[in-house]
Parts: sequence; C-alpha cells; structure tokens
Amino acid sequence: MPERDPQQSDEHEGSSTFVPVDPFEIVVFGATGDLARRKLLPSLYHRYCDGQIPDNSRIIGVSRTELTREAFVALVRDAYAEFEDAENWKPDCFEAFAEMLDYVALDVMSDGDDWARLDETLGPKSDLIRIFYLAMPPKLYVRIAEGLDKAGLAHAESRVVLEKPLGRDFASADAINAGVGRVFDENRIYRIDHYLGKETVQNLMVLRFGNILLEPLWNSRAIEHIEITVAETLGVNGRGAYYDASGALRDMVQNHLLQLLCLTTMEPPASIDADDLRTEKIKVLRALRPVTAANVAETTVRAQYTKGRIDGVPVDDYLADADTVESGTESFVAIRTEIENWRWAGVPIYMRSGKRMATRRSEIVIQFRPVPHSIFPGETNLDANKLVIRLQPDEAVTLWMEIKEPGAGGLRLKTLPLNLSYADNFAVRYPDAYERLLMDVVRGNLSLFMRRDEVEAAWHWVDGIIDAWAETQQRLSLYPAGEDGPDAARFMLEQHGDHWADAS
Ligand code: BG6
Repeated sequence: MPERDPQQSDEHEGSSTFVPVDPFEIVVFGATGDLARRKLLPSLYHRYCDGQIPDNSRIIGVSRTELTREAFVALVRDAYAEFEDAENWKPDCFEAFAEMLDYVALDVMSDGDDWARLDETLGPKSDLIRIFYLAMPPKLYVRIAEGLDKAGLAHAESRVVLEKPLGRDFASADAINAGVGRVFDENRIYRIDHYLGKETVQNLMVLRFGNILLEPLWNSRAIEHIEITVAETLGVNGRGAYYDASGALRDMVQNHLLQLLCLTTMEPPASIDADDLRTEKIKVLRALRPVTAANVAETTVRAQYTKGRIDGVPVDDYLADADTVESGTESFVAIRTEIENWRWAGVPIYMRSGKRMATRRSEIVIQFRPVPHSIFPGETNLDANKLVIRLQPDEAVTLWMEIKEPGAGGLRLKTLPLNLSYADNFAVRYPDAYERLLMDVVRGNLSLFMRRDEVEAAWHWVDGIIDAWAETQQRLSLYPAGEDGPDAARFMLEQHGDHWADAS
C-alpha cells in the first residue's frame, strides 16, 4: 500500500507504536456536518495512513443531503484541505483511504425507505465490528437508536458513540440515556468527551500515579488552591444557534472542565480499567459543594464578550457572532467551588472558561502553600511552589521552585521553572484526541468515555447553577474580546486573597 506506515516501531525516543485494530465498519451520522469534516474524517484518514486501520474496514457517511459516493469523497478531501496541515497530506494514501468510503442519504425522521438504503449499503451481517457515530444534535439520538433498531441494524455487538452535549440538563440527559439504552446495552455506549483523548489530559494520570513525589503532597495540607482555565480566542464561529441555546456552562464546564477536575482530584483508582476509573471520578462529582440561590452570587460569574481586539485584529461582539440582537447567554463562566471530602475540604477550586479571551490556553494550576517559616534573612515572603500542567497549546508540565540567585555576597532567592516540555522531548505529531478515541471505540476500551451515572452526576451539579442563576436572575457581566474575562471574575478570587495565575 503506497505511503502507508504500518506499525511504527517504538525503538527510538519520540516515536509511537500504532497497533493495528480489527477491521470495522463505522456509520457516521452527520457526515457532512462541522464535526465530521473538521475532526472525524481527517482522524480516520490519519489512522489509516499510519497503518492502524485495516483495508477491509468501511466508513459510511450518512446525512440528509443527496450526494453521490464520489461527491462524498470530494467533500472529505476538501475538508482535509480546509482544516488540516498540508504537510501531512499523502495523495496516494488518500486514494486508498477513499476506497473505504461510502455514502447514504438518510433523513433520520423518515420511516422505511431511507433506513432500508442504509441496510442495503451495509449488506449482510459480517465479522466487521459495527459502530454508529452520532455527530448530530442530541435531541435526535433516541430517534436514531430506534430507527437503527427497527431496521434491524443494531446487533447485540454493535457500538454507538454519542457526542456531547448529552442533553441540556439532568432530565433531558436521563431521557436520552434511557431511550438509547433501550437499544444499546450500557457497555456498548461510548459517550465522548474529546478532552479525555488529549495527550496531556491522559498524562495527568501518569503524572499523578506514575510518580511517588506528588501523592504525599496532593491534599489540603500542602495545596492552597487549584485552578482550571480553558480559554479560547475563537468566538462562536458559525455555531451561534447551538451556542446561544447552551452557553459556556453547558458547552464547556459540564463536560470538559469537570472531567479535568475529576482527573486532577480523584483518589488513585484500583486500575485504569473503565469501571475503576469512572467509579473514582463520580465520587468527586458527588462531593462537589452544591451551588444554590443562597451562594450563587459569590461563587459564580457569568459574562459575555463585547467588541475588542485579538492579536491586534478587531473582532465583533457576541451578539454579532451569534447572529442575534439580544441574548443573555454567557460566553464566559467562572466558578469557585470545593470538594467536600477528606482530601480536599477547605481547598478552593477555581474554574473558568471563555471564548474570545486574550490567549488560547488550557491549564491546570496547583498552587501549593508557602513554607511555614523563612530562615532567610530579609526574605519573609517566599513564593510558594506552583505546578502548572499546560494542556494546550505547547503542552508542558512546569514546577515553579525557589532557588538561590548565583553570586558572592548576600543571599537572594529567585522563583524559576523546572520545565518539562512535550515539544522538547517528543519529536512526534500528536494524534488529535479524536484519533485515539475512535481507535478506543474499535478496541472496545471504555476507559476514556463517560458512564451514564457520571454524565448525570455532572448535570445534577450544573443544574444547581442553572436553577440558581434563574432564581436570582444573576446579572451578566461584560468583557471586551481579547481580555481575560470580566473584572468580576478577578474580584471573586481577590475576596479570598487569591488571583488567577498569569499565562506562563
Ligand atoms: C467543544 C465546544 O466541545 O470544545 C466548543 O463545543 C469548543 O465550543 C471546543 O470550542 C474546544 O475544544 P479544543 O479541543 O479546541 O480545546
């Protein structure tokens, strides 16, 4: 096969091993949509060209649009050109990859004929692992599961992948889980949160549980507070209708930020098997201090961006981006919470996420307590240690330490970073989160996917915030695009003598 690179060896530092998966057939619902074009189809292409996907696998795009197979192949090629790095484009490999592609126009609301067409394209049941990927609005998930069931396409071993957000509150998530669960057993349902597929997010577990150094300090005795920031410079980017009905709390906090929080603070799991991991994560979610009407004003900030500049370029306000004249939806949220258990009681947890912020960065900051007493004359306020885990961009783990500034005479201290940069240590292209997660679905590995009770526990806590905002009619602050959120988010921490970590 031209330009394929089957089974890279792991002999030298910086390379990865790709163990080929078993042959599979994946039906992508929403195949002409943004997620499929931007992420799913390019991810499958990369895994194929790295030799991980066997040639007899099949990728079947499904959407309402009438398209020929050739037009679908062209759409996949164009999507690659639009969203991916031209450097990784291998035309010969794409030709071979395209052989696996097929397309079926199907209106999921229809009965009968459309589903029969999909049945025909799939053909008689074979040994291929069958996967249905629902890259569609969640309100259609139950309908699609039922359609597949009625058409006899969802065999006992088929798997279904559900994109986030799973519903818009606990009740709708519960209804989706129950409806899809009538067709697919729980261990066949892969609820995706793409943050769990990111290299540095998985490294969080290795950092915590592959090193002896951190665990003795990983508690309220040594840690003063924890901060999780996911800041984007992008606006709502043509997804105004979806985003305006969701907002930052549902779009980012309910899933990505809470998952990061769980991995940062959970107890050591018995193993990395799916259930061991998910059992520990859910304990964190259940121990989160509830947000109520009585405490919502001092523990949360909601805000929306106004016009501003990003990297010197003028950008529109939220209303123009979301194509609406009026909106109370937050594009930024900051939360102060606490995990009410023995390890973390009393340690503030600060989370914030926003669009159109000053810089794109996702970081977890572990702020340690200062030394109890300084023995150095004149140095009464030593900087406390800080561990910064940067998830993106420029993945790195940085430990800020006090050291002696060189020089004879006097004793001056300086705070400097011990820096473990991914780029300096691994000269590889990092696979996109979706590449790993898609291969995990084929392998049947549920560890990086969310269990039903986990998603519902997250909604339960987030519902408390949504209800409290509604009950108190909490005001929406404003921040100019290109800044790190509103002043109110700064004040929320300053009241407790803390401040958000600067970009490192
Ligand atoms: C998605 C959200 O889940 O995550 C988007 O719906 C957001 O609004 C995106 O932009 C951020 O993902 P990443 O991988 O770019 O940090």
